[in-house]
Amino acid sequence: MTRPLIVANWKMNMTLEEARGWCAFWPKDWGVKKRAANVVVCPSFVQLLFVQGRLLEIGFELGAQDCAAEAMGAHTGDVSALMLKDAGCHYVIVGHSERRTNHRENDPMVCQKSIQVFSSGMTPIVCIGETLDERTKGKTHEVLTRQLTRSLPHDLKEKNVVVAYEPVWAIGTGKVPAMDEIKNAHAHIFEVLTSLGWEGAKPILYGGSVTSDNAFEILGLPFVGGLLVGGASLIPEKFDGILKAAEVF
Ligand code: PGA
Repeated sequence: MTRPLIVANWKMNMTLEEARGWCAFWPKDWGVKKRAANVVVCPSFVQLLFVQGRLLEIGFELGAQDCAAEAMGAHTGDVSALMLKDAGCHYVIVGHSERRTNHRENDPMVCQKSIQVFSSGMTPIVCIGETLDERTKGKTHEVLTRQLTRSLPHDLKEKNVVVAYEPVWAIGTGKVPAMDEIKNAHAHIFEVLTSLGWEGAKPILYGGSVTSDNAFEILGLPFVGGLLVGGASLIPEKFDGILKAAEVF
């Protein structure tokens, strides 16, 4: 297995002081010494420029949590992919379930956003995942197929994406699917992506209540190439525990 990609999604958390404190936890050359994983940290927009230099010193990359579906113009309150690129981002999360639910983002919008991310020279991390209701009705694979087919750019061959499988019911709940369920979902995602022309250069992540206790087991599953971590990424000691689980791979 290649080095896992571990993404910290800070969501709407952290003051500037807390973010600085988080960064101060890591030794300057962490990336050079340990480098068991490729690490991407996604703070809020307003913190990007403040933490960018420090993250670089540690050996972490910078990512954003969302971007506009349009390139520029009269879109009050939105932030364009190009602005994120300017701020030093390499990755942008798009289609997170909290955006899909709270901001009514649908698959075509997510697709537009991922195209913007590509056009600006970054990699989109496209989130997909079923709700509890869809899962109970046995529709998990159907939902994943639909989201993959509609949320990703069509020319996947050139535009390799990172896909993050995040069952909506597992996000922030402390509930994690059985390992077999994660394995099956990832195998399905791999199959659909391959049928869409994806060439597998980027990892498929799992997200939803990842902790240092379950990270090792999840990372060991076939087709799991990394993790998208919310709550446990806010406390550096906890996040470090997750990175330590990646050292074995
Ligand atoms: P969680 O969030 O780790 O707190 O469950 C994951 C995510 O929403 O990306």
